[in-house]
Amino acid sequence: MKKDIETKIAVFPMPVLMIAAYDESGKVNVMNAAWGMISAEDKIALFIDEDHKTTKNIRAVKAFTVSLADAKNIAVADFFGIATGNKMPDKFERSGLHAVKSAHVNAPIIEEFPVVMECELAGVFLTMTMTGANVEAAKISAQ
Ligand SMILES: Cc1cc2nc3c(=O)[nH]c(=O)nc-3n(C[C@H](O)[C@H](O)[C@H](O)COP(=O)(O)O)c2cc1C
Repeated sequence: MKKDIETKIAVFPMPVLMIAAYDESGKVNVMNAAWGMISAEDKIALFIDEDHKTTKNIRAVKAFTVSLADAKNIAVADFFGIATGNKMPDKFERSGLHAVKSAHVNAPIIEEFPVVMECELAGVFLTMTMTGANVEAAKISAQ
């Protein structure tokens, strides 16, 4: 028997993805994204707001990296999710992390994060059959 609870995003835990991209002048910016996932063996899908600096950079440069942050970088990962490169041009420099250019794509690799995916933009809208849904209700087991 399940009981109703307030509407929740019940897909949990979410990943902590660090999305890094250059702007058109080659300046590094990084944001934190929880709404991202594997969408095929060689594909990743990200759900990022249009007004983020990172989104603008990805649209302009068409490449980015996605890193997995680890526990020792929790504070800086949080910072990347709170500060915006739109208002803080030196956001990445303030983080104290280090970036090198990927040999595969025109995007920065953040040296301190242990795992990175080097990505070319496949498309901004539909790259597959994508189904969007509003979560109208949620339930949890009573025990
Ligand atoms: C834990 C966490 C997860 C986040 N996940 C997302 C996300 O999946 N999509 C999104 O658009 N913004 C997400 N954000 C918000 C952006 O990281 C935040 O707005 C950031 O300032 C954008 O940076 P930028 O403008 O420099 O690109 C998240 C923030 C935090 C703290």
